[in-house]
Amino acid sequence: MTQSNPKTGAADVVAADLTLEEKASLTSGADFWTTKAIDRVGLPSVMMTDGPHGLRKQAESNDHLGLADSVPATCFPPAVALGSSFDPELAERVGVALGVESAANDVAVILGPGINIKRSPLCGRNFEYFSEDPIVSGVMGAGLIRGIQSRGVGASLKHFAANNQEFDRMRASSDIDPRPLREIYLRGFERAVTQAQPWTVMCSYNRINGTYASEDRWLLTDVLRGEWDFEGLVVSDWGAVNDRVVGLPAGLDLEMPSSGGRTDAQLVAAVRDGRLDEAALDLAVGRVLDLLRKAQARPTVEGFDIDAHHALAREVAGRSIVLLKNEGVLPLARAATVAVIGAFAEQPRYQGAGSSLINPTRLDTALDELRTLSEGEVSYAPGFTLDGSGDAAALTAQAVAAARAAEVAVVFLGLPASEESEGYDRDHIDLPPAQLALLEAVLAANPVTVVVLSNGGAVALPFRDRVPAIVEGWLLGQAGGGATADVLYGVVNPSAKLTETIPLRLADSPSFGNFPGEFGHVRYGEGLLVGYRGFDARELEVAYPFGHGLSYTTFSYGAPSATLQASGDVLVELDVTNTGASAGREVVQLYTSLDGSVVQRPPRELKAFASVALQAGETGRVALTVRREDLAYWDVRLDRWIVEGGDYLIEVGASSRDLRGSVVVRIEGDPVVRPLTMESSVADLLADPVAGPVAREAMAAVFGGGVGMDAAGASMMANDEAMMKMMASFPIGRLAAFPGVPVSYDGIETLIAAANQARSAG
Ligand code: BGC
Repeated sequence: MTQSNPKTGAADVVAADLTLEEKASLTSGADFWTTKAIDRVGLPSVMMTDGPHGLRKQAESNDHLGLADSVPATCFPPAVALGSSFDPELAERVGVALGVESAANDVAVILGPGINIKRSPLCGRNFEYFSEDPIVSGVMGAGLIRGIQSRGVGASLKHFAANNQEFDRMRASSDIDPRPLREIYLRGFERAVTQAQPWTVMCSYNRINGTYASEDRWLLTDVLRGEWDFEGLVVSDWGAVNDRVVGLPAGLDLEMPSSGGRTDAQLVAAVRDGRLDEAALDLAVGRVLDLLRKAQARPTVEGFDIDAHHALAREVAGRSIVLLKNEGVLPLARAATVAVIGAFAEQPRYQGAGSSLINPTRLDTALDELRTLSEGEVSYAPGFTLDGSGDAAALTAQAVAAARAAEVAVVFLGLPASEESEGYDRDHIDLPPAQLALLEAVLAANPVTVVVLSNGGAVALPFRDRVPAIVEGWLLGQAGGGATADVLYGVVNPSAKLTETIPLRLADSPSFGNFPGEFGHVRYGEGLLVGYRGFDARELEVAYPFGHGLSYTTFSYGAPSATLQASGDVLVELDVTNTGASAGREVVQLYTSLDGSVVQRPPRELKAFASVALQAGETGRVALTVRREDLAYWDVRLDRWIVEGGDYLIEVGASSRDLRGSVVVRIEGDPVVRPLTMESSVADLLADPVAGPVAREAMAAVFGGGVGMDAAGASMMANDEAMMKMMASFPIGRLAAFPGVPVSYDGIETLIAAANQARSAG
């Protein structure tokens, strides 16, 4: 039948047109980067390749760890930088450019964004991720996906899920309790999937609570499709498949890269001997066919504008630089004499190592760009070498002489490339001692010193009290040198903010002691208290808090107002005024908390943010929406999201520790109806809004009436605070057995029945 009915390709091929062997073959790669073609029915092969902050299409030899060269492409700022802009529209514009470059290179799916939570500053891949906060990660990831897919190219949201370290990443089980799993580690994925519907989701290498992500039906099917309505295809991370016969029916549609036919044959055998339902294979095949159809519908793109994309990369890098500290030194006067010190000024670190390694179309250096913008003299001394070679004393002496002769010293420090890579983690957060020693020498020679950092993960800044200005440059992509010069000279007014806390010491970070685990398990012992949630809960001092970032201008905040919308969302509005002399941008942040919650909550959690551009003196009305679902906690008793009722404190501010105003909003809670049982606690019984009052009355009646306690005893039990505290967690059914409590089991059953009846009636 299929032979006599030639098809025209993905447009009209369905699973039924294919043999069992063809179907199995379609659900794994042909090689490193492409899916299999089936010529008999005209199915094309399509390419899926990295990602995420540029296109990495390897020309000849293939590997997935960035070893072999790839075609030139624009290297945009990696997520660590882009995230700091707190601007999803900017991310979307980067996405559009990625989509264009992918389309121009005939790439169907670009493998990104990566939105895993930065659980520890040590994770080797933090440079590829946006934040320690799920809302920032999800919103920024969604922006990037929207942009990419607007050009008819698919995104691949990765690494799903709980892949928060590189150590033992292909085997280790991330052991996470349900609340942090839902509220921290899955929340960003949920946001990106529901808001941007990526063509593909890439499952991670690791296990979650013992089950490989690639075999986790709960994760890949129940949650991803059942709860979030994901419509696309699930692809394995490269080599993440453990047992394909288990993975496919769990929801893994496509194995990458090729298994050389070995696992295809396993699928065929499993269908033949009844271990695998062919319908599960058909479902996966259908999703591959969908992907091929989408890819074939992509409009043809001939090349891309290298200059325009480089200019965009520079703009984005400028929006990504975080001004950590500035005691009047920046911006530099154009006429100032400047000593540029540090090898990174000439040999930039602009991206991290591994599968995201882009071959840039060009590369700016900060030194050249500073010289272009300067009207004074700009000297240069490397101060150190990137590989640690050379005569340290001589290099330092040269740097000190340059610093002494200049009005300002700008010292470029950073992490060596070898310390930040996919595949392994750091084991400390310190800058190299040689660089720190150099900085001390320069500072002694010229206290007017600016430090510019190049690092993909947070580093300790022991010098921060002694240096008048610190610029966090992260890894800024190929145009980072120009953007750094723009910020240093005030051509661009810095506006980015930290999406991760910079701790004083590694030992302060919440995951310390629970990272990276051992013997195949990593226990997420800090639970919900990840990142700033943990630093705030423990009232720890930090070097720079989550959300921090300065500007060359200043902003004042008006009082916020909150209005409950018909949808249940809360609209928060406030005026923000640029009170300084230069145009600038402010990232306004909104945090919520709920006092007296029934569940553990961090002191405050980010729920919304906005990046607002304001001219000098201008006042702008800023509107932020707190989505009702973002107020929800994961209720482990009911296994679902619950919005707890109560008076929520909404705080707005310039950082998580620079809160400028607040407003309280009363939120109606979701009904939580759980029938009381003999296992329910006295507190459960009394706290229930419907059953509580009835139970109190019933208690008085039962205790006072039929079963031996007098009215005074009953009232003491009900009213005495200490007694009630003691009794609160007592399971109701055990009261009867407790010595001295003259209540019969039957009496308690009567009480519960009365309460349940009152509740169902009410
Ligand atoms: C990485 C992915 C990447 C893939 C293909 C894996 O090692 O974890 O992020 O997309 O390789 O290069």
